[in-house]
Amino acid sequence: MDFIGANILSVSQFERADIERVFDVADAMTPYARREKVTRVLEGAILGNMFMEPSTRTRLSFGAAFNLLGGTVRETVGITASAMAKGESLYDTARVLSGYSDVICMRHPQAGSVAEFAAASRVPVVNGGDGANEHPTQALLDLYTIRKELAAQTRTLDDFRIAMIGDLKHGRTVHSLCKLLCLFGKVRVVLVSPPELAMPEAVVEKLHAAGHRVTVTDQLETSIADVNIVYSTRIQEERFASQAEANLYRGRFRLNREIFTRFAQPNTVIMHPLPRDSRAEANELDTDLNEHPSLAIFRQTDNGLLVRMALFALLLGVEGKVHQYAHEVRWHSRRNPVLP
Ligand code: NCD
Repeated sequence: MDFIGANILSVSQFERADIERVFDVADAMTPYARREKVTRVLEGAILGNMFMEPSTRTRLSFGAAFNLLGGTVRETVGITASAMAKGESLYDTARVLSGYSDVICMRHPQAGSVAEFAAASRVPVVNGGDGANEHPTQALLDLYTIRKELAAQTRTLDDFRIAMIGDLKHGRTVHSLCKLLCLFGKVRVVLVSPPELAMPEAVVEKLHAAGHRVTVTDQLETSIADVNIVYSTRIQEERFASQAEANLYRGRFRLNREIFTRFAQPNTVIMHPLPRDSRAEANELDTDLNEHPSLAIFRQTDNGLLVRMALFALLLGVEGKVHQYAHEVRWHSRRNPVLP
């Protein structure tokens, strides 16, 4: 695909070569994300962050990624803080905001809303999550993480096994990740959820059509025994008709050190898109695994910065100029230990 000026709305728009391109550029962003170098390549550019649902890492990492490339970020957070609370349409909001921005990242509770917004925007729009539909940049950073973690075990994206656990019906990260896996060779996918929260049939069909072996189960212990990656997810309580209904499932799957040690291989990589629900009644990924070397959740969030920097650089056509506008870091930083 031609990245320059493109919208990023769904992982379905990517071919394998596009993913590899994003990952190559992401690798090249490492010294900037680590504060070993500074670049001003996007000096003067403005990112409009429009987040109509709760977010910490997606919003902040989009913003930090843009700042690390030298650009400026303007934000609107929450529907009540925007003129949408006065009845303004997605169309009008997009026409206005795209006059103030060079690229827009948007999160919205309604599936399809970001595509509708993008159709009216005069600048590229990146989907930061549209309801239960998709979360393409999360899937890219998840896949980038899987690739890195597998490489450390001399495995590749064309031959591995992954178990996805939790609310697979409403979880947009797993929808996007499964679709992205269809671009790769031999992936064995174990889908672990209560039957009521199963992966949508259309997504399972895509995995089958790609030639992947898919197992559907509601057993956590047996499903993690023979996989390279365990991808735990939160029950998406905000997508249920009532809290009482969500409560039926919170706490249904709990991965902790005891279960992991007993049933999984020690080098099985543990991932989660975050936030994990650490309240006692949920706790799908226990904090007693925090120091476990297999826990990759914070490597995942660090990788998110690299992947989002790569996307901005590609969408704005500066991926080849980042080093040209670079200089040394002037301040002391723990991540820049070369300075006194
Ligand atoms: C996810 C999301 O918003 O879909 N979070 C994220 O962006 N990393 C997952 C979730 O909220 O459970």
